[in-house]
Amino acid sequence: MALEFADKLNRIKVYPAADGYALGPEVALLASNETPYPPLPAVERAVAEALKGVNRYPDPANTQLRQALSRRYDVPASRIAIGNGSCDILLAAGEALLEPEAEIVYAWPSFSIYPHLAAATGARALAVPVDAEHKHDLDAMRREITVATRMVIVCNPNNPTSTALPLAEIAAFVADVPDHVAVILDEAYCEFNLLDDPDASVELLDRNPNLVLLRTFSKAYGLCGLRVGYALCGSEAFRNAVDAVRQPFFCNVAAQAAAIAALQSQDEIAARVERNLAERIALADGLEDLGLQAAESQANFVWFDLPEEADEREVVKGLADRQILVRAGTPLGREGALRVTVGTPEDNQRFLAALGELVVAPAEPRRKRRLFKS
Ligand SMILES: Cc1ncc(COP(=O)(O)O)c(C=O)c1O
Repeated sequence: MALEFADKLNRIKVYPAADGYALGPEVALLASNETPYPPLPAVERAVAEALKGVNRYPDPANTQLRQALSRRYDVPASRIAIGNGSCDILLAAGEALLEPEAEIVYAWPSFSIYPHLAAATGARALAVPVDAEHKHDLDAMRREITVATRMVIVCNPNNPTSTALPLAEIAAFVADVPDHVAVILDEAYCEFNLLDDPDASVELLDRNPNLVLLRTFSKAYGLCGLRVGYALCGSEAFRNAVDAVRQPFFCNVAAQAAAIAALQSQDEIAARVERNLAERIALADGLEDLGLQAAESQANFVWFDLPEEADEREVVKGLADRQILVRAGTPLGREGALRVTVGTPEDNQRFLAALGELVVAPAEPRRKRRLFKS
C-alpha cells in the first residue's frame, strides 16, 4: 500500500530554491540575495561562545534577543516575535490566521513563499499583479480585501522585482485596511531601501495594532546560514498566535547569540550596506551598457528582462556553465526576466562579462528598449 498523504500536499509547490551549493569555491552565488561578505568577527566570537552551551536547549523565549530588539526599536519585548528565519514567522502566521474560507492577499510577482501559506491551509489566495513599474498596486490590493480576508502581505522592497513604494503610500494603505485583517509588511530588504529611513515604519505600529513588520537577519546582517528573523508586532495577540503554533525551541543558541552581536555592530553593517549600494549602481550601469535596463532597485538584487530573442533557460544554463548562479524569472513569476543578487565587484563583473557573451549585444546606436512593458 502506498502512503496516504494530506490533500494539501497536492497544493503545495516545491519552493524554487537555488541549487549549486555543491559547486566549487569559484562559483559566484548570485541567486539567493545573500550578502557576499564574511561574518563579522564579533558574530564569530559570539557564535563560538554560544557553542560551548549546546548541550542545553536554547532559551525558548529568546529573551535576550527580544530585549536587544526592544531597546533598538523601542517596541515592547512582548510584541516581538522571533523565528527560525523570518519565513518561519510567515508560515506560523499562515497556520495561525488562515483556514478554508479565509483569504490572503498579496502582490505578484512577489516572494515565492507567499503562495505556500494558502496552499498549506486551504485558504484562498488573491495574487494581485504588480503595476507597470513592477511595484505593488495597493489600490488593486485594497479592492480584493473582503470580510473573509485575514492577511495581506506587502513586500517592501519587493522580492523579486526589487522595487519599493514610499512609506507614506504604505501608511495610507494600512490605515485603510479593516482592523480584522493582519497586514504583514515584509521588510526583509529594508536596510537597502534609499526611499525612506529603514526604521521609519516602526512608528506605524503605534496606531495600527493589526500591522506586523517582518524583518530578518539573513540579508543586510549576513546571518542567513544561521536562520533568524523577527517580527515587530502591533499587538501581543499576533506574537502569541505565531508562538502557539510552533515547536518551542525554534531559534538555536548560535543564532540568538549571533543576532545580538550583529545588532550591536550597526556601524559595520551600515558600511557593508553602503558598499552593496555602490555595487548595485555599478551592476545596473553594467546592464545598461549591455542595452538592458533593470527595474529601479531598492534591494540587494536587480531584476530585468532579457532581450526578447534570448531564451531565459539557456541564459541561466550558460551562466551556470560559467559557474555563475542567478535566478530565472519564470519560476518567480515573470517569463524572460532574471533576478541577480549584488555580489562582490569581481562576481558582478564576471556576471556582466558572461551575460554579454550570452545575449547578443545590440548594434550601435544602442537600442534602448523599455524592459517593463505595460
Ligand atoms: C521578501 C522576503 N521575505 C522573507 C525572506 C525570508 O528570509 P529568512 O527566512 O531567511 O529570514 C526572504 C528570503 O529571501 C525574502 O526575500
